[in-house]
Amino acid sequence: MDIVASGIRPTGFLHLGNYFGALRNFIKMQNENKCFFFIADYHSLTTHPHPSDLQTNVRNVLIDYIAAGLDPEKATIYVQSDVPQVCELSLLLSMNVYVGELQRVASFKEKVRRQPNNVNAGLLNYPVLMAADILLHRADKVPVGKDQEQHLEMTRDFAQRFNHIYQQEYFKLPVAYNFGNELVKIPGLDGSTKMSKSDNEASCIYLSDAPEVVRKKVMRAVSDSGPTEPGQPKSQAVENLFLLMKAVSTPDTVQYFEDQYQACQIRYGDMKKQLANDMIAFLQPIYERIQELRSKSDYISKVAREGAEKARESASKTVRDVREIIGFKAL
Ligand code: TRP
Repeated sequence: MDIVASGIRPTGFLHLGNYFGALRNFIKMQNENKCFFFIADYHSLTTHPHPSDLQTNVRNVLIDYIAAGLDPEKATIYVQSDVPQVCELSLLLSMNVYVGELQRVASFKEKVRRQPNNVNAGLLNYPVLMAADILLHRADKVPVGKDQEQHLEMTRDFAQRFNHIYQQEYFKLPVAYNFGNELVKIPGLDGSTKMSKSDNEASCIYLSDAPEVVRKKVMRAVSDSGPTEPGQPKSQAVENLFLLMKAVSTPDTVQYFEDQYQACQIRYGDMKKQLANDMIAFLQPIYERIQELRSKSDYISKVAREGAEKARESASKTVRDVREIIGFKAL
């Protein structure tokens, strides 16, 4: 059985893009692998220096996770900061990581551009902490999107470097979990190619959005003035509506509107009405579970506590081994 590790930063509620990008695959993976899914709250400090809402965000993500189908009985679900062993591993790994290589990381350079007044060392060290998350459980596989591939490659570099320096095949070199065709990219409602909270709140459908909210957002989605001749390529905004429909509606429904488009008879208002209904129906079970879990505070605490215990067990063993390999010994 493969060991899988993956984290998500608690930046708010989870949206449909998170669901189709990662969550849906996590739910499948938990049946066939030994999975560690955690909420990367340490990582979130790199962009939120005043974390007054940290606990709420972590709790909301945990609730969304479980409501969507992650099962604490099958996978180890935990909060990163409940397993401080990751800090020690990160520190130890950092001794063999070069500042220059961290400065060249694409995500770091992007952050320097985005938050020039807060280029903190945590940001620079981000890939080391992420490597520690993964190596802590000696994971074989990491489900990551394109934007995280460089981080995973660095994890392999750090692992290999450690093995080489200490002349031991201790760490496995984790690879990306390949979903093949199952990766569905969810666009935004605002014409952008990716549903993303940071770009535009209104372009996001959250798993916890009430049906009326979903309907309102979908009805306001960007479209265009309609095709004027058969075979006319779709604008990005309209392509997006079709992509969203493919995710939540039946193939027949998608085909119906595709035919309407091709015949230049499409009415986007009708299409959006249908899309809203199908999206609401799709989200309904998750939405209901979220409402239920929000009132079960004790249960959520228990899940976090038990997840942390399991994660610490795996983490302590790795840190113990690594300390020994490095040469820390009791005097
Ligand atoms: N950097 C990841 C992201 O922003 C989150 C993350 C932190 C992660 N640690 C990880 C993902 C370990 C996979 C494995 O999406």
